[in-house]
Amino acid sequence: MTMIDESIEATVARLAKVHAGRRGALLPLLHDLQAAVGKVDDAAVAAIAAELNLSRAEVHGVVSFYHDFRHVPAGRHIVKYCRAESCQSRGGAAIEAALARRLDVAMGETRADGRVTLEPVYCLGLCAVGPNALVDGVPVARIDGDAAIERIAATVAA
Ligand code: FES
Repeated sequence: MTMIDESIEATVARLAKVHAGRRGALLPLLHDLQAAVGKVDDAAVAAIAAELNLSRAEVHGVVSFYHDFRHVPAGRHIVKYCRAESCQSRGGAAIEAALARRLDVAMGETRADGRVTLEPVYCLGLCAVGPNALVDGVPVARIDGDAAIERIAATVAA
C-alpha cells in the first residue's frame, strides 16, 4: 500500500528496489505499481524509465501493450463486456447498450462516482453461453435480458 504523501517517484523507487538486479524487472515493477496506486500514468513512466535506465518509449511500449495497465484508476467494480463475434451474434450490442444505461456509464469509461468501470473484452472463451461478461473477474454468462442486467447492477451496487 502506498504511503499517503508518497510521490509517484518515491513509490517507483521503493518498488524498483524489490526487483533490483533482476533481468526483466520492468513487467513485475509495472504490476506492483498498478496494484499499489491503481494506475501507470506519464509521471510513472518517466520515473520507471529513470529507475531502470530505459527510455520512456521502451516503458510506454510495454504499458500500452498490456490493457491491464491503466492511465487512470479503475472504478471499484470492473465490468468487462464481451464484444467478440459469438456474443455479438446473440444480441450483444443491444445488451451492451442496456447494460451501459443501467449502470449509468459509457463503454470504456468509469462512472463519475468511481463505483464502476465498463470496458470491452474480446472473447472470454465462453462463446456457447453468451453474451458474457466478467464482473470483478467473475464470469457472468447468458446476459440475455433485464434479469441478468439487474444481477450485474446489484453486484456493482454492493
Ligand atoms: S465471443 Fe464472447 S465469450 Fe467468446
